[in-house]
Amino acid sequence: MSHIPVMLAEMLEALAPRAGARILDGTFGGGGYASAILDAAPCTLWAIDRDPAAIARGAALAARHPGRLHLIEGSFGNLLPLLHEAGVDALDGVVLDLGLSSFQIDEAQRGFSFMRDGPLDMRMGDHGPTAADLVATLSEAELANVLFEFGEERASRRIARAIVRARAEAPVVTTLQLASIIRGAMPPSRDGIHPATRSFQALRIKVNDELGEIERALGAAAAVLAPGGRLVVVSFHSLEDRLVKRFFAEASGRTPGPSRHDPRGLAPVTAPAFRLLTPRALRPGAEEVCHNPRSRSARLRALQRRTQEGIAP
Ligand SMILES: C[S@@+](CC[C@H](N)C(=O)[O-])C[C@H]1O[C@@H](n2cnc3c(N)ncnc32)[C@H](O)[C@@H]1O
Repeated sequence: MSHIPVMLAEMLEALAPRAGARILDGTFGGGGYASAILDAAPCTLWAIDRDPAAIARGAALAARHPGRLHLIEGSFGNLLPLLHEAGVDALDGVVLDLGLSSFQIDEAQRGFSFMRDGPLDMRMGDHGPTAADLVATLSEAELANVLFEFGEERASRRIARAIVRARAEAPVVTTLQLASIIRGAMPPSRDGIHPATRSFQALRIKVNDELGEIERALGAAAAVLAPGGRLVVVSFHSLEDRLVKRFFAEASGRTPGPSRHDPRGLAPVTAPAFRLLTPRALRPGAEEVCHNPRSRSARLRALQRRTQEGIAP
């Protein structure tokens, strides 16, 4: 079992680690990015992951780079207090590789996969309500909203009704139980996508407050970047990418300007604090997608804080 890092070369080029740089990897995972960053330049790396298993696995990498890798268990949405506690007040680079690691997806006991039987858990960390708790306690309307909002599932109401009917018979506590309830509620799929894909994504996002975490992390990362510092984000589905795209556009002043008839349009415009390094999201090449199918939906975006002179190094 291992995790193949996605768009590793593109991430390194966008992050551009340099000697003496202070960098945060907010999603340590299998340590693939962290290891490549540490090898690329004599920099110092702080690495966060909310999964205690990921932090424990990182000890070997930290031992190989004495004093250069500092592992922190916690959520990247809390990166400011976590860094503050670690005595870090400014960074030259932040990277976020969103979503799950292969370690998490492949381990049936974590409950992320509708292909493997396991407890309906889906927590990346080890506290808070599980997916089974949500499935047991949300009302039919709340369940439908979660499936629609976080899974863009058009059959959300039909699936919610089937779940509520099933849980009246017996508690829904395993992944395969839920997958079979969803399959029973859906017409056969014509696109080859497993009928439970969108519902599992939705529950996972809700259990881990993934979108809230991303919003908090983007603001915090931008606040902590020193002049010239870079923020690189790799996202895997449209809900994540939309948040990143919008935040990057606003930070770099790429939001639509006011109408020329709007008197506010005459107000002096201050130069944006950030420069967009990727006017369009970068996508993995065909060879990577062939070699690592999990990379197929990846999108990489990067942003850089301008220096006082406005010229980024
Ligand atoms: C796609 S993996 C990262 C893989 C890593 N870049 C590598 O090359 O091995 C995502 C990791 O981020 C962690 N993660 C996701 N959301 C998080 C959050 N809000 N706070 C901290 N860690 C999070 C997950 O637990 C998972 O280990």
